[in-house]
Amino acid sequence: MNEIQQRIFELKKQQDAVILAHNYQLPEIQDAADFVGDSLDLCLNAKKTTAKTIVFCGVDFMAEAAAALNPEKLVLHPDNTACCPMAAMLPPATVIEAKKQHSGAPVVLYINTLASAKFHADALCTSANAVNVIRRFKEKDILFGPDKNLAYYVQKQLPEKTIIPLPREGHCIVHNHSILLEDVQLLKEEHPNALVLAHPECIPEVQAISDYILSTNGMLHKAKGLSAKAFIIATEEGICYRLKKENPGKNFYKMESALCRNMKKIIAGRLIASLEKKQFEVKVEEKIAARMRELIEEMLKVNRSN
Ligand code: 13P
Ligand code: SF4
Repeated sequence: MNEIQQRIFELKKQQDAVILAHNYQLPEIQDAADFVGDSLDLCLNAKKTTAKTIVFCGVDFMAEAAAALNPEKLVLHPDNTACCPMAAMLPPATVIEAKKQHSGAPVVLYINTLASAKFHADALCTSANAVNVIRRFKEKDILFGPDKNLAYYVQKQLPEKTIIPLPREGHCIVHNHSILLEDVQLLKEEHPNALVLAHPECIPEVQAISDYILSTNGMLHKAKGLSAKAFIIATEEGICYRLKKENPGKNFYKMESALCRNMKKIIAGRLIASLEKKQFEVKVEEKIAARMRELIEEMLKVNRSN
């Protein structure tokens, strides 16, 4: 254990803290964390931890979910400017307006949304269970946001439904703009035996040439379970650290420019400062937090689809 890891370990013990980190976090954060996972796995771990303090290494909506699930605990976010730009693309007013225009259509929101927008949802999902969450509704028309590419993926899996994207052009800047068809095609030419694992936030053209479309934990399970030795990873590059660590005999080719700057704002120094100074506390207004708890607990009952 190096000096930084030792310091984090001591502080964690002193504060009775658990460190939860998303799969896109920097290696130094993944190595210091008690749990590393996708959005769904992190909600589960936030719900079941008995630690007094949760330090959430990820972006704002993930830390807010942990805070909503644990009103009695101290939830810290080491950098409170680490926000998901896609979540900001769906203000609550857009949800309210869409509900008026499509009365009777349930609103299913991706967990990558603002807490204030979640308040108006009928269900939440992550990339791992979006298909199964939407399948549960008897209604044909479903309002779904904010990611148009995840909406496209769900629509393909559930042709009996009409998925109405909310807003029309919501997207992740990393997956939508930094993982282009040409990038994936080039890697496929260079590594013809490699399988392509893509996140459903990728554009339809990338989804079409992928072997599997998966959440980040889905990628970890698939890479481990398949006998293939090489994979092209069409998502944020941070997950390749964990893929390689857990599969040392396999090769993972990453999309070099697919880097989420917000995820990468959490660095070891900020994690240490967070534990030392108990910063930055994540607070969700109780009325909104209570609704989020109901929605997340309902979501956690749904099986993974990918
Ligand atoms: P996962 O839930 O699949 O980890 O994805 C979260 C995310 O933010 C993808 O950009
Ligand atoms: Fe948001 Fe995209 Fe970053 Fe995920 S990778 S946190 S969706 S900006």
